[in-house]
Amino acid sequence: MDDATATPVRLTGPAALRWGFRFARDPLMATRRCFETFGPLVMLAEALPFIRPGRVAIFDVPLVLTAGAAFQRELLADPETWRGVSLLPGGPRNSAARRMSLGLTRMTGQRHAHYRKLLAPPLRKASVEALGQSMAKIAEAEVGSWRPGEGGDLWDYSRRLMRRFAVELLLGGPSEQANAIADKVSRLMEHKWGWGAFVPINLPFTRYGRIVRDAEQLERQLLQWVRSKRGQADGRDLAALIVNSPDVDGSLPVDMAIVGQLPSLLAASSEASQSALTFTLLMLMQHPHVARHLLDELRDKLGGASPSLDAAGALPYLDAVVKESMRILPPVPLQIRVAQSDATLAGQGVPRGSRVILNGFLTARMPEMYPDGDVFRPERWFTITPSTFEWPVFSGGPHSCPGYWFGLSAVKIAVAAILTRYRMVLASDARVDYQVQPTMRPLQRVPIALRRQDGAFAATPIRGRIRNLVRFPQ
Ligand code: HEM
Repeated sequence: MDDATATPVRLTGPAALRWGFRFARDPLMATRRCFETFGPLVMLAEALPFIRPGRVAIFDVPLVLTAGAAFQRELLADPETWRGVSLLPGGPRNSAARRMSLGLTRMTGQRHAHYRKLLAPPLRKASVEALGQSMAKIAEAEVGSWRPGEGGDLWDYSRRLMRRFAVELLLGGPSEQANAIADKVSRLMEHKWGWGAFVPINLPFTRYGRIVRDAEQLERQLLQWVRSKRGQADGRDLAALIVNSPDVDGSLPVDMAIVGQLPSLLAASSEASQSALTFTLLMLMQHPHVARHLLDELRDKLGGASPSLDAAGALPYLDAVVKESMRILPPVPLQIRVAQSDATLAGQGVPRGSRVILNGFLTARMPEMYPDGDVFRPERWFTITPSTFEWPVFSGGPHSCPGYWFGLSAVKIAVAAILTRYRMVLASDARVDYQVQPTMRPLQRVPIALRRQDGAFAATPIRGRIRNLVRFPQ
């Protein structure tokens, strides 16, 4: 469907409430059904018309659901009108939780341009290529410490490797302190889309109350970390760059301004890559013919050597596998934008404060570009070259992901290092449900076993809501 000419649909009252609840329960399936029923532009408004505007945030803010490359382009190109939201849940005025939600994703204008420029050098392609040897060594050390015969949680294996890449290569080297902080940030993020985060009751037993207290503890740890980096200029350490470089007005940033930025940077640097690695490995486990083909490519081209970035970067099937996995299960499946003023979208008036959901998950399965979009088929990448808005995995426009090269390389090195050593097998009782917080994660442990790589790939029948998103061969 050509979304630029979409007829907008406006749902109010009980219909808006019903779709709003569906969205809160399962945002991917809800937006998919909504798209199939009403088309690519749906506005949910006045769900509870008797509630005065401004009283209960969750019910009186219009929610606009969009899907398709034209919306991605229109909204992402204009961040002054359509501002991004924090990766963290936020909190009451003057709280640590509120202070922590002021990272790059919410900045606009000169300040945003200033920090993008500051963080660009260590993340550009040439800098990431220069990290190739170190990335390969970390992968060797981490994956080499796993043992055939052992079992564990797939998400946990991915976390260990991706966290090491981020902390050791982008945040100043191995550090227990940075790991502990990253764990806390990750836990705070889990609250972002839970119901409790929207109900602002700050009591010891409420979700909102827990967010407030966890954020206070995290802020104390962050302040210690920031102090340890003061005066330690290191152009390859993103946190040290923020701590020791002037803010946009030329003065050194105060501790609290830094604390506002670091959590989202920590989250951005490893959460999405962790999601990408987890679901790529899951797709390989469930698609034996793809895993076999990829292993052949790795053995042919690497000849038993450990996978360096140079070598892994030049493997066409590995590239296709990773891109296809991020297409079918995008690490950031939905992006949120908030209208900063009354605006229009495809000719439809959208009031100030409206939240627009940009659906990358659906955009990356539009049938014109991706026939059989629910099928995991890496070969499709040999004949398509979608734009950043048609494959919005790293987003587009001024807020597009600056970690593209690092993230993509990290996932490729990790997949190559794991597959050349181990065959991962999904446990027969595994159930895979998912959650979007705001990165895509498994809802529960994904139990797997590690076998020495013998090429004997075979899929275990998979259960769970993941089956609503992917058409598995078995
Ligand atoms: C596979 C890995 C990755 C994926 C799929 C990914 C995806 C994304 C997406 C979709 C956005 C836009 C979010 C939005 O506007 O709502 C984003 C933003 C961002 N990403 Fe990544 N990312 C990855 C890895 C990384 C890495 C390794 C870093 C390293 C620092 C990073 C840093 C950032 C930052 C700082 C932003 C905010 C940019 C801004 O607002 O100007 N990402 N990422």
